[in-house]
Amino acid sequence: MLVFVPPHPLIKHWVSVLRNEQTPCPIFKNAMAELGRLLMYEASRDWLPTVSGEIQSPLGVAEVEFIDPREPVAVIPILRAGLALAEHASSILPATKTYHLGVSRNEQTLEPTVYLNKLPDKFSEGTRVFIVDPMLATGGTIVTAIDLVKERGVDNQHIKVVSAVACPPALQKLSEKYPGLHVYAGIIDPTLTDKGMIIPGLGDAGDRSFG
Ligand code: PRP
Repeated sequence: MLVFVPPHPLIKHWVSVLRNEQTPCPIFKNAMAELGRLLMYEASRDWLPTVSGEIQSPLGVAEVEFIDPREPVAVIPILRAGLALAEHASSILPATKTYHLGVSRNEQTLEPTVYLNKLPDKFSEGTRVFIVDPMLATGGTIVTAIDLVKERGVDNQHIKVVSAVACPPALQKLSEKYPGLHVYAGIIDPTLTDKGMIIPGLGDAGDRSFG
């Protein structure tokens, strides 16, 4: 498994806005969306197939390259907080389908429960999937999501996880279970408390995005 923390000043900026406890809810949500845009941009590099050809510009014929519309791309935001991180997916990815997945973590046991599943029975052959969840803490939620996606015909190489903050226990779990998976994170934080909170982290990303 590979974990990328793109060394980009804008990524550092938006992570810093998210970390600040003084950041109000609408600004937090916007910062999460901007971070998601940048991480999805980075995660698309060398991954989305293109098709080339010629096109007539107003002043001549140009060699061009487009994202191949025959190659399906899916975005899976994990509710709630993933909705904010995935907000710009449809504006930066030319053709994509969004499949919502609602997973909540029990505050005592930290066990995830799926409460909404809009995934298709089977993904089309070759579908590239972005799974978008701001926090990778114990890793229970993201593992549940990846297993649901894999059951529907997608292999590790066709999945990219996009996250604002990742913590070592989650990364360890992912690397043991899914060789070949790529994870894009805004930052990696060192500590996970017994209550499953990432330190220093961002707080509760769902509550801070949606109040
Ligand atoms: C948070 C977070 C992740 C999950 C991470 O969601 O957004 O989905 O916990 O925890 P884990 O790695 O230990 O499973 P939460 O259950 O608080 O739901 P919310 O997004 O609706 O706030």
